[in-house]
This record gives sequence, C-alpha cells and structure tokens, in this order.
Amino acid sequence: MTILVTGCAGFIGSNYVHFGASETTELIINLDALTYAGNLANVASFDDPTRHVFVRGNIGDRQLVNRLLAEYEPRAIVNFAAESHVDRSIHGPDDFIQTNVVGTFNLLESARAHWLELSEHKKALFRFLHVSTDEVYGTLRPTDAAFTEKNPYAPNSPYSATKAASDHLVRAWFHTYGLPVLTTNCSNNYGPFQFPEKLIPLIIYNALHGRPLPIYGDGQQVRDWLYVEDHCRAINLVLAAGKPGETYNIGGRNEMSNLDVVHTVCSILDKLRPLGTGRTYLDQITFVKDRPGHDRRYAIDASKIERELGWRPRETFQSGIRKTVQWYLDHQSWVESVASGAYRKWSDLQYGVMSD
Ligand code: NAD
Ligand code: TYD
Repeated sequence: MTILVTGCAGFIGSNYVHFGASETTELIINLDALTYAGNLANVASFDDPTRHVFVRGNIGDRQLVNRLLAEYEPRAIVNFAAESHVDRSIHGPDDFIQTNVVGTFNLLESARAHWLELSEHKKALFRFLHVSTDEVYGTLRPTDAAFTEKNPYAPNSPYSATKAASDHLVRAWFHTYGLPVLTTNCSNNYGPFQFPEKLIPLIIYNALHGRPLPIYGDGQQVRDWLYVEDHCRAINLVLAAGKPGETYNIGGRNEMSNLDVVHTVCSILDKLRPLGTGRTYLDQITFVKDRPGHDRRYAIDASKIERELGWRPRETFQSGIRKTVQWYLDHQSWVESVASGAYRKWSDLQYGVMSD
C-alpha cells in the first residue's frame, strides 16, 4: 500500500513519517517544496526506498501531482503542506494564499481527476485527508465552551483565513463532486522537529543562548497543547475509520496560558541545564508588543473523535513537555543547523533552488 503525504519535511509531517514507520510498512511518497520550514534532516533516517520516497515539488503543481498519482496509485492523500506561522502571515500573506488556498485547490483537482478514473472498488476506498487548525473557529472568551465541529468559522489572521478557505474548498469537493474527503482541525502541536519560530522551540533556543524570552502582550493568551505523536495517531484513526465528508477536532485537553507554558519550560531547563547559583531562566522573560489581532483563547472539544473513533491523547502537558525539552537538549546540532539556515543550503544543492 502507498500513501501520498504532503509537507513531510516540516514539523508534523516528519513526525507522521516517524510515527507511521513504527505502525505500518506502507510506502510514503513525501511531496514537499522544501520552503524555509521544510528540512530533509527531519526524515533523514528514512532512506529505505520501499518505505519513503522524497519528491521535491509544490502541491499546486498539477502536472507533477498527476504524475505521482498515476505512478504510485496511493490509497490516500494526506495534506500537511501549508504555510503555518501566524506571525509570518501578518508580515507577508501572499505565500499563504498561494499554498494554503490555491495549492489546496490544485491538489483537490488532481485528486478528483485521479479518483474519477479509479475502479469502483478503489474509488470507495480512496481518501483525501486535509489537516487543518482550530484557529479557523476564531477566538474564545474565558468562559466560552471549547470549539466543537459545529462552531461557525470566524478566522482572524491571514493564516487562519487561508486555512478556513482551504477547509471550505475541501468540504465543497465532497458535497459537489463526491470526493471522499476528511478534515481534521487540531490545536497547537508541540514536540520534536518543530521549527524554532514557534513558541516552545523558540523559548528553549533563546533560553539556552542567554537571549530574551519574548512574551507577546500580557502572556495570558490560552492555547490547548497537543503532543505531536498524539496528533499523528489521531490522523491515522481518522484515515482508517473517519466518515467521508466529516470533520474531526483534535486537542490535548491541555489549556495553558502562554506565560504558564514558558514558566514550565524554564523550570524544566532549570533542572536539566542549571545556570548556577541563584539564577533561573525565568529572568530572561521579556514582555514585548502584542501580535496584531492576537486571538485570546483556543480550546478544542475532542469528544467526537473520542466517542466515534476511540482516540485519547496519551501525553499530558507535563509528560509531553518534559520529553520535548529533553529532545531539544539532545538534538542541539539539529537546532543549530535550522537556526543558521545551513539545512537550506544543503537542500538547494541537492535538489536545486525552486523558482516559486
Ligand atoms: P510546517 O511549517 O512545520 O511544515 C510545512 C511543510 O510544508 C514544510 O515542510 C514546507 O516545506 C511544506 N510546504 C509549504 N508549502 C508547500 C507547497 N506549496 N508545496 C509543498 N510543500 C509545501 O508546518 P506544521 O506545523 O508541520 O503544520 C502542518 C499542517 O498542520 C499545516 O497544514 C498546519 O496548518 C496544520 N496545523 C499545525 C499546527 C501546529 O501547531 N504546528 C496546529 C494546527 C494545524
Ligand atoms: P505560535 O507558536 O506562533 O502558535 P499560534 O500563533 O499558531 O498559536 O504561538 C503560540 C502562542 O504564543 C501565541 O499566543 C503567540 C505566543 N507567542 C509569544 O508570546 N511569543 C513568541 O515569541 C511567539 C513565537 C509566540
């Protein structure tokens, strides 16, 4: 069996490859454009061509995707590829429109053309799983109930608006064309291989380098943290048993303020990498200007996937964050190569610089 997975050189996609490899012997065709967020070192241990084939390319390149679908006849497409960082979307939304909206549209069209040509049996088994975010639902007040799949969409950032647009396209391709799609909306992930522009790896990196730990605004914004491996397990369950046309919310039931997250990371580092008498990483915390349009609170009600597919997160925030901090301490050379940009020079040498 073969599966086409996009964006597998990024954070969650590469964890999905690692996780999948421990669960099945399925061949993964990894289609990734290797943007700044894509790093082949994340999947370097998978150099067995019967398990993992890497193809550098854009999800919006229909010719390429059509060729991959014809050649490998995957049983499913899992779409992780996206521009994923809210702050970048504020400074430059163009790439977000191109990849998250136009790219997803093109991928859907390639999938539809391929699916239409399949035998009835294969048609019934084929799936297109689109990975999305809880940010499409907008922001919650402290006492609001957590997001269910029935919450109306109210995206507030260019990032979440483009993810919402892609979710709507995916939904329409089911209702209009019958393409067997599944959508997952998950909360903030954390774990190994996350690019150090996102809160948790950024805090670990800055702490270890004696730099300020930037807290936007008052630090009381709340996110619902999900350990990346729990997310990968949920995706496989949805792929195997989710109902086409349905959406599934995935969250770790770990609501925490940003300030509490940073305090937790600092206290773990104080134990694992003590700074010396009387000093603590907490002293590096610096309050900075807030992000424009900053959503105050996200929280996921995951009862649908729990009830219908029997999924439960295995990690608490306390257990997951300890593993995560330890992973970054054990993989300092990975972090340094990402921070210095060295990984990009190697990718460009190996695969050529892409014009888009
Ligand atoms: P990431 O930024 O770490 O990785 C994205 C990957 O997609 C990179 O490898 C990049 O090279 C690739 N990519 C970007 N544009 C592409 C294109 N046009 N064609 C092919 N490949 C392209 O992102 P992530 O954190 O791993 O997120 C994966 C998915 O999960 C995204 O769809 C994101 O919206 C969603 N999500 C992430 C989180 C989170 O906390 N990280 C939470 C909810 C949802
Ligand atoms: P981030 O990891 O960028 O994810 P998202 O914006 O998708 O939730 O940020 C998580 C939270 O941390 C968010 O509320 C913004 C905040 N944040 C900071 O306070 N300082 C930082 O340096 C970063 C990157 C994020």
